[in-house]
Amino acid sequence: MTSRMWGGRFAEGPDAIMEEINASIDFDRDLFRQDIAASKAHARMLAACGIIEADLADKIDAGLDTILREIEAGAFTFTRELEDIHTHVEARLTELIGPEAGRLHTARSRNDQVATDFRLFIRDAIDGLDDGLRDLQQALAEKALEHAGTVMPGFTHLQTAQPVTFGHHLMAYVEMMARDRGRFADARKRLNESPLGSAALAGTSFPIDREMTAKALRFDRPTANSLDAVSDRDFAIETLAAASLTAVHLSRFAEEIVIWSSAGFGFIRLSDRFTTGSSIMPQKRNPDAAELVRAKSGRIIGALTALLIVLKGLPLAYQKDMQEDKEQAFDALESLELAIAATAGMVRDMEPDKAAMRKAAGAAFSTATDLADWLVQALGLTFRQAHEVTGRIVRLAEERRVPLHRLGLAEMRAVEPRITEAVYGRLGVSQSVNSRTSFGGTAPQNVRREARRWLKRLGKDQAGLR
Ligand code: ARG
Repeated sequence: MTSRMWGGRFAEGPDAIMEEINASIDFDRDLFRQDIAASKAHARMLAACGIIEADLADKIDAGLDTILREIEAGAFTFTRELEDIHTHVEARLTELIGPEAGRLHTARSRNDQVATDFRLFIRDAIDGLDDGLRDLQQALAEKALEHAGTVMPGFTHLQTAQPVTFGHHLMAYVEMMARDRGRFADARKRLNESPLGSAALAGTSFPIDREMTAKALRFDRPTANSLDAVSDRDFAIETLAAASLTAVHLSRFAEEIVIWSSAGFGFIRLSDRFTTGSSIMPQKRNPDAAELVRAKSGRIIGALTALLIVLKGLPLAYQKDMQEDKEQAFDALESLELAIAATAGMVRDMEPDKAAMRKAAGAAFSTATDLADWLVQALGLTFRQAHEVTGRIVRLAEERRVPLHRLGLAEMRAVEPRITEAVYGRLGVSQSVNSRTSFGGTAPQNVRREARRWLKRLGKDQAGLR
């Protein structure tokens, strides 16, 4: 009982159920690095401000290093009785250096401590996610460059619409990931203020230097309002919102991988490295990694929803409800990191079946828009007239059960007498994609340019030249 940090005014220990619901050590132990870093910064600052002796700060620092090594080595004993990571570190420090360890908690509270640790944790997670997303963009852009001229059907309503290039399709995700990275970077900027020194909620009477601890922990500045600082979890919510949208992007892509690798489509093949077999059907090759990426979005969005709901009714400042901010956030960010890595792995692994894609690209009169465009450009029809004429030609081809480019000139002329032989130069899938040279269009030359531009930029990102 005496090992409890707040035991002074209590005569009895807590009920076992109380202990179980109260303890957060089972999950907040993941904050140990951040907790120790923040304590080291706090101790140094206390000494620099003359609040503790310099040699005590040295002892605290060395003790904290020992604790870090012990936890990293798995040689640290965690117990629910000690509630959370903050009390564990302090209790162990007391064992190591004696009761003077109790001076470390001068001018701080677990409230500003946990707010600081959690910010540091989320900041680290954002940096890791950014690296992962950068790598995924690179995998996509490399594959896109390789397949800038590989034709596939583009879909709307999942119905064959117009031919596009596989490279162009992959580059669409590079754009999405760029926005995702932008959202994380934006959240990181707002997150990067130090709550440390806000103490329980009101600040402190000790002459502390909050700039100093902020700087030591690579925060841009200290937070400006102590009540806000200990009760704010916006940084976690913003990050989970960015994570949710990223997860939705990955899930959409995963769904496409599932569709593309199905027998009905047969557009891509995933190797043994990213598929599994069936225990009963020997022929099966299941895209489990893609399916799990698709499913991870559920728990990530769930974490965002949970935290929004935990926060929505809370008065200022710290409430114990806020302890429920961590577990799902940790899980969500870890799940996202894994989903990003799995997606990059699948992108590098996937082999498109060019012949199957080309065949599908030419099916279902996919170049009908090219025919209509030609009628406008060569014959001067309005697009509406051209749409009508093309519709009738498509109906004819459908009746004859032939693709557009197999319909005879005489048959086309029966619909529009001014059509010439030149129209056939527009009805193939390669001609179709080659013609889409408008900015942002699918033409192979555009895709090559975009893929190269991105690869250059991503190389600079990697070298930290942003
Ligand atoms: N384990 C707590 C949490 O995660 C730390 C803060 C506890 N503060 C308090 N006043 N009980 O929120």
